[in-house]
Amino acid sequence: MHEADAWTDDGDGVVLSPHPVPTERDVEATLRPKRLADFVGQARVREQLELVLEGARRRGVPPDHVLLSGPPGLGKTSLAMIIAAELGSALRVTSGPALERAGDLAAMLSNLVEGDVLFIDEIHRIARPAEEMLYLAMEDFRVDVVVGKGPGATSIPLEIAPFTLVGATTRSGSLTGPLRDRFGFTAHMEFYSAEELEQVLRRSAAILGVELRPDGAAEIAGRSRGTPRIANRLLRRVRDYAEVRADGAVTLPVARAALEVYDVDELGLDRLDRAVLGALVRTFGGGPVGISTLAVAVGEEPSTVEEVCEPYLVRAGMLARTPRGRVATAAAWHHLGLEPPAQTLGDPAPTLFDA
Ligand SMILES: Nc1ncnc2c1ncn2[C@@H]1O[C@H](COP(=O)(O)OP(=O)(O)OP(=O)(O)O)[C@@H](O)[C@H]1O
Ligand SMILES: [Mg+2]
Repeated sequence: MHEADAWTDDGDGVVLSPHPVPTERDVEATLRPKRLADFVGQARVREQLELVLEGARRRGVPPDHVLLSGPPGLGKTSLAMIIAAELGSALRVTSGPALERAGDLAAMLSNLVEGDVLFIDEIHRIARPAEEMLYLAMEDFRVDVVVGKGPGATSIPLEIAPFTLVGATTRSGSLTGPLRDRFGFTAHMEFYSAEELEQVLRRSAAILGVELRPDGAAEIAGRSRGTPRIANRLLRRVRDYAEVRADGAVTLPVARAALEVYDVDELGLDRLDRAVLGALVRTFGGGPVGISTLAVAVGEEPSTVEEVCEPYLVRAGMLARTPRGRVATAAAWHHLGLEPPAQTLGDPAPTLFDA
């Protein structure tokens, strides 16, 4: 199951989830950048990709296989679609979990037309036999289909059309070495700066017909956890507020008031994030404390605390994972309006989104 499936649109904490909620797929499609030129930020990745695509275009061959790696909501799927669009190629879409048997992949591969882009989302979750088939396909544009069982089994080589594989993963660490090595180019997606998120928001506001003022954009960007998907979602929530309780324009006061309603604080922490920090600081004196104990203290599953809250708290410099358990940094104490005890990790407070 994809982590996102655990979410519902009306539950607590969803507004800051980096995963898509089921009801927003349509609007996400509307807001997706279609060409490289519309794709905001990730300057490095964009430049590298431009070279890869242009080089291949000049040589008249499909470009090297591309691996897109990075946290959810940063634009991997968008970029895969853009690669196909820039090449003028068809995009075939599948995902790691869908390729349970090698036969599923063989069917997909044998239907490819020369130059097609095959997008495998969550490629780290591909089953072993399919992965092994993929090695040969990526390297030699060939698959060996095994017919029969036991000593009588024979393998029939099957040619496939030269194609470009685009793989996306939120966990490049759990990709096997042989698979990783077969990608000619790996794009590491970074979290977006506040300025880049403002640009994303301006673009989205124009598409949605929202009157977004610069100070309103800055306020939303600062609370979006470096993630375009979250920025777009907060924009939609703020728009609701602006239309219902104000004159429709997203100004600074409107953005502030709206985000307060949705429990998103100035640093982009929600109620659960603050509960985790609060328990860590107030109940456990700043730690170290084990993840299960911490989770019980806030009435959540350890996996929720670990996968939903922690990545951002760590990145924001408020929580540290140590061998003895979770520890609150000085920034966490300050954020809760408390004075950290002497020898607290990380005084003075670090800045968010340092490059
Ligand atoms: N660089 C960008 N410029 C403009 N909008 C963006 C950009 N990156 C992402 N977005 C917006 O964020 C949304 C989510 O992006 P996308 O689905 O491509 O992320 P993802 O990395 O594939 O996430 P996941 O890991 O959940 O699959 C898109 O619908 C798009 O509106
Ligand atoms: Mg995606």
